[in-house]
This record gives sequence, C-alpha cells and structure tokens, in this order.
Amino acid sequence: MFGLFKKAKPHTLTIEGVGSFDVQPSETILNAALRHGVRFPHSCKVGGCATCKCKKTEGTVKELTSAAFILDKKDLDDGYILGCQSQLKSDVTISVDALSGERPAEEIAATIVEKEALTHDITRLTLQLEKATDYLPGQYAMFSTPEVTSGSRCYSYAAPAAGNKVTFFIREVPGGEMSGWVKNSAQVGDKVSVDGPHGDFHLRSGQGDMLFIAGGSGLAPVLAILEDAVRHKLSRDVTFLFGARTEADLYGLKQIEHIRQNWSGTFRFVPVLSQEAEGSGWDGARGLVTDHLPENLNVIEQVYMCGPPPMLDAASEYLQQAGLDESQIFADRFTDRSTNTINNEAAR
Ligand SMILES: Cc1cc2nc3c(=O)[nH]c(=O)nc-3n(C[C@H](O)[C@H](O)[C@H](O)COP(=O)(O)OP(=O)(O)OC[C@H]3O[C@@H](n4cnc5c(N)ncnc54)[C@H](O)[C@@H]3O)c2cc1C
Ligand code: FES
Repeated sequence: MFGLFKKAKPHTLTIEGVGSFDVQPSETILNAALRHGVRFPHSCKVGGCATCKCKKTEGTVKELTSAAFILDKKDLDDGYILGCQSQLKSDVTISVDALSGERPAEEIAATIVEKEALTHDITRLTLQLEKATDYLPGQYAMFSTPEVTSGSRCYSYAAPAAGNKVTFFIREVPGGEMSGWVKNSAQVGDKVSVDGPHGDFHLRSGQGDMLFIAGGSGLAPVLAILEDAVRHKLSRDVTFLFGARTEADLYGLKQIEHIRQNWSGTFRFVPVLSQEAEGSGWDGARGLVTDHLPENLNVIEQVYMCGPPPMLDAASEYLQQAGLDESQIFADRFTDRSTNTINNEAAR
C-alpha cells in the first residue's frame, strides 16, 4: 500500500567532460546544471530557442514540451534534447557542444570601450576583453553585467573574431531589462562579462548560391559571416534580403556596400521595408521579406537566416514548400523571455 506513494528519487546526470551530479525529480537538466555551477548555454528557458540543446547518449528523459517543436529531424535523429525541457527518468549522460569540442566556451571579463546608436533602437557595443577569444562568425555569446541581476542574455558577435575586441548589435526590446540597460544606462568604462562562443549558426561548405535573410538586429551574425567570407575570397553567388520597418531602421549599409564591392562572385543586396510611408521617396522593395522569396529562389543551395522567430518561421515554411531541403536551411532565432510555450512556468 505504502509502496504506491514511494517518493521519487533524484537521478544522476553526467555531462561528458564536465562531471556528474544529482538532479531532483522535478528539476530540469538546465536548472540542475546551473545549480551545480555548470555554465550550461541557455536563453529563453521555455523551449523556444534551442540554445540549451544537448545530445543524450544514455538514459531516458521526460520532455515538458516536445523538442520536435524547435529541433530539426537531423538533431532529433542524432539524440538531441532540450536541457530546459527535460527531466530525468533514469541516470542520464549528455554532451554539450559548447562545453567540449574545438572551441570550448569560457567566461571572460570585459570593459565597454565604445557605444554608438545605429538606429533609434539598435546600439553597437564594442568590448575590450581581458584575453583574446576565438569563434566562428555567426556564433553568439552570453553577455552579463552586475547591473542586470536576472542573468545573462545571448548576443551574436557582429564581426569576425579579432583578438581582444568583440562587437554586438543590441536592439532595445520594450520592457527588456538587458537591452534597456544597454540603451539607457551602459557607459564606456563599465565592466561586463562575455561567455562564449556558443551556437551552431555558421557558414557550411558548398558550391552553390546562398540566400541570406536578416531582420532587425539579426544583421549582426550575417555581417560577421559575410565579412569573414570576403576575407577568404568566397566566390559563391549571394542574395541578401534585409527586412526592416522603415528606411530609418536600416543600418550597416556602408558595411554591406563594402562587402558587395569586394565580393568575389555576384552579390545582390535587397533591403525590404514593411512599414515605410507611401510617397516617402523609397523606391526599393516593400512588404515582408517572405513576399520577395519567390523571385530569389532559382538556384539557391543554402539559406542562412537570422532575426525574430515569426519572420524565420514564415520564411522556413515557404522555403520548404518551395522544395528546399530542411537540412540546407540554417537559422538563428533571436528569442527572448516573452517566448511562450506550453510549460512556461514549469521550466522557470
Ligand atoms: C541565440 C540568440 C542570439 C541573439 N542575438 C541577439 C543579438 O545579436 N542582438 C539582439 O538585440 N538580440 C539578440 N538576441 C535576443 C537577446 O538575447 C535578448 O532576448 C533580448 O535582448 C531581450 O533581452 P532583455 O533583457 O532586454 O529583455 P527581457 O527582460 O528578457 O524581456 C524580453 C521581453 O519579454 C518580456 N518578459 C520578461 N519576462 C517575462 C516573463 N516572465 N514572461 C513573459 N514575458 C516576459 C519583456 O517585457 C520583454 O518584452 C538573441 C537571442 C538568442 C536566443
Ligand atoms: S533555453 Fe532551452 S530552448 Fe531556450
């Protein structure tokens, strides 16, 4: 009789190359790892960004929300799960790319050395790190400051790796703690911290044409990839769709023009404005970037896109319907804490 009410016991989680520790029955892998001081990559904590994806090599987990909402078929087939959405049903072993591999992430102290408003809501922040860092263009770091006590936020490196300096483009989000601090309070000389590199958004090998799609601050990793590609004289043809609301929201245009002029193949840049007033003098493309996909798809081999999740989801759906293989679409979703999924509260 009493056996029916046996209390669930903690299980052991082993992170390859890091160590083993207990995970309480109601605890997620991510929360247990953070409790044990492991610098496990994460952002939304609600199953919306895949920042916490890790590969399960042994054992079974209970998923609070299905990883299939956010991970692609290949990741699922390879055994990837979401750390923030998984509780242990047995002892489990996982590997976390950012904590192993060629470029293991590390936390580095930094000082803000430049702050510049790129638009009314996007700030470029340049940091001097206490030691040099290396990353693949397209990856991101977890950025923190003692002034924001709710933890770190993810920001993509906005330029190829360059020793002790890193740059981020940070868009102010209404009600956002970190982006609000950056826009309104951060000052040159402030001490911050950068934990990276993280993420698997980067250029893949191939011969065919590429389509890049960026929205808002999603320009950051795209610029990093394209600038690095120019340095390496990549000659694949590129079409780059950059979505913004109005002409005043476009930025980085000089850098993009420099890339276009120095690109070894054909480079087409198409800015697309969704809310530019009629008669404003803008004679470029209007609407959503997805409206301009049909005429830009002819011989595309790979697609790289970055920005707000609704834009990426719409583009991804269109591209797959148009016949592009899911494995050739690479996306970095800029989710934030407003991302809602079924078990939002359970995961916090
Ligand atoms: C891989 C990755 C890379 C990214 N790169 C960039 C980049 O290069 N540039 C960039 O600008 N952004 C980037 N982001 C987004 C960035 O990490 C932050 O999410 C963004 O800056 C907002 O942080 P914040 O602290 O200002 O807002 P938060 O304080 O986290 O709030 C975000 C929104 O959620 C709401 N909110 C807060 N708490 C809750 C809650 N409990 N429930 C519901 N809603 C809530 C807030 O009102 C606000 O609208 C990236 C995200 C990811 C995942
Ligand atoms: S932190 Fe787990 S999906 Fe975002």
